[in-house]
Amino acid sequence: MRSIGFLNTFYKFLNPPFSRVLPIRRMACSRFEYVKSFEQDDSILPNVWIVIRIDGKKFHKFSKTHDFDKPNDENALNVMNAAATAVMQEFRDIVLAYGQSDEYSFVFRKETTAFKRRSAKLLTYVTSLFSSSYVMQWPRWKSGPLAYAPCFDGRVVLYPSDENLRDYLSWRQADVHVNNLYNTAFWKLVLDKGLSNQQAEERLRGTFSADKNELLFQEFGINYNNLPAMYRKGTILLRKRLVDRKGRQAIVPLHEDLISSQFWKHHTEILGKYVPGSYSSPEGLPKLVENQLNEKHSSEQEDEQPQIKADIS
Ligand code: GTP
Ligand code: MG
Repeated sequence: MRSIGFLNTFYKFLNPPFSRVLPIRRMACSRFEYVKSFEQDDSILPNVWIVIRIDGKKFHKFSKTHDFDKPNDENALNVMNAAATAVMQEFRDIVLAYGQSDEYSFVFRKETTAFKRRSAKLLTYVTSLFSSSYVMQWPRWKSGPLAYAPCFDGRVVLYPSDENLRDYLSWRQADVHVNNLYNTAFWKLVLDKGLSNQQAEERLRGTFSADKNELLFQEFGINYNNLPAMYRKGTILLRKRLVDRKGRQAIVPLHEDLISSQFWKHHTEILGKYVPGSYSSPEGLPKLVENQLNEKHSSEQEDEQPQIKADIS
């Protein structure tokens, strides 16, 4: 050991740059290095759908603090949609994202090799990018500042078959339907009829969907099916080619029924060969898409400058 120390000092004295490249055992392997073996391999199995679902922490309180419209705040939902769009722009192996309320699910294609399919890397990148994008998007959609930093939990769920994946997404969309129908009736009773929260809860206890539909129609003249599709169906984000923008690609929001087989027949790129389908919107492009095109335009200008891009692995 002593002679190694002497050699080390000798080489350093002789030729500092040379000493840096000479492998000296004591420097390369500290006796602490064994702790690295405690780290576990968390690579995800090949050939399975990888779903990452994030969910807002205590959004019951967050929505109250920031005075969200009840039961649905269009702009707050769009902050979620815009943050999810940012995640899809960064991770091109995400073929579909689905969001409702304070949650978003991201579906990575089965064959993805992103981050060597390491579970923790995928989960933490998606969750942290979503959170920071939520904060960046906030002023674009909401008035008033953020009172505190929102945060999101995340989980990874694997689905071996296409049927499992479809059932997972159907489960999340059915959840929107159940919650939204209840919440719409509940807040109508409270805000329009002046019932207390407890009275509204009692009124709705034990009712079926048909009863709540009837209540909305009879007492408030509301046909539930005419409410905005984003509130009833949630938001599906897909990568598409924009027909009226010369085929430029963008992430587009859809509010369709993904439980029906029609949806999967129409958007064949999700389960089949991944080639983005085309998108046109007779009412004009949604703001979510326009924003991306404007951003793309400015980043294209930036690209004219030489850049060094960091390689994340
Ligand atoms: P944890 O996820 O367990 O931390 O609790 P949470 O309070 O976030 O509840 P959960 O995720 O189950 O539900 C989300 C909550 O966010 C809803 O119950 C609502 O209170 C609130 N929320 C989400 N979107 C909206 C919205 O558009 N308007 C309003 N008013 N509230 C919303
Ligand atoms: Mg939550």
